[in-house]
Amino acid sequence: MAEAVSIRGVGRVFAGREGPVPVLQGIELEAGAGEFVAVLGASGCGKSTLLRLVAGLDSPTAGEIRIGSRTVTDCDPRCAVVFQEPRLLPWRTVAQNVALVARGVPDAETPAAILNRVGLTGNERSWPYQLSGGMAQRVALARAFVRKPAVLLLDEPFAALDAFTRLQMGDLLRETCRDRSRTVLLVTHDVDEALRLADRIVLLAGRPAAISAEYATAGHDPIRLRAEILGRFGLKEVA
Ligand SMILES: Nc1ncnc2c1ncn2[C@@H]1O[C@H](COP(=O)(O)OP(=O)(O)OP(=O)(O)O)[C@@H](O)[C@H]1O
Ligand SMILES: [Mg+2]
Repeated sequence: MAEAVSIRGVGRVFAGREGPVPVLQGIELEAGAGEFVAVLGASGCGKSTLLRLVAGLDSPTAGEIRIGSRTVTDCDPRCAVVFQEPRLLPWRTVAQNVALVARGVPDAETPAAILNRVGLTGNERSWPYQLSGGMAQRVALARAFVRKPAVLLLDEPFAALDAFTRLQMGDLLRETCRDRSRTVLLVTHDVDEALRLADRIVLLAGRPAAISAEYATAGHDPIRLRAEILGRFGLKEVA
């Protein structure tokens, strides 16, 4: 069941060679249970850092992150993360890669059922090296879905894919998240992807970065919203 994510006053300072490097400061973000939120920001602004904090892969130096009523303190089993690269085990077949993650998950779908959902029926016995980039990333999504996470964290999951596969994967993600059984945080620097998929778009900007603006996508003209968001990053629409 989906859980709300609450990020309150979160900061992260890294230890740099020439002293402390504040990357995130005063991040305030509430994602309702079942909501799909896209976090949009320029390269290097701290998007992955924020996602790692929510997953409990790293700890904030200020503030607090909650999933439901519990504070995130370390690697949180209620979250599943999909990274830019699929990170499959090369010595396991596609079905085994999914089955390993499903272990211990109550009423987990079978690998066959979940692979069917991501359009990979017939590839159960393939090895990761035999897959295209898009297929491998479908397996990564299957591994995340099979755990029935309360919170799905996506760190530019389609960035390495060609434009067509990227659109297909976006549709797949949107379809799978339609039942709102999980809260989704999608980190991306693709404005169109954010507009197509998310209920709400938050912009991360500045150094250290904070949330500089946020927009609900429902009821907004996507073309206007796109221009507004690009404008926020100092970019103009190409006619
Ligand atoms: N473990 C670390 N130690 C020191 N600095 C770090 C560490 N992790 C990230 N940083 C710094 O924090 C900043 C933000 O990095 P992050 O990976 O979160 O950016 P990003 O927005 O995800 O970028 P991209 O779009 O390129 O993936 C960068 O300047 C990076 O060098
Ligand atoms: Mg990143």
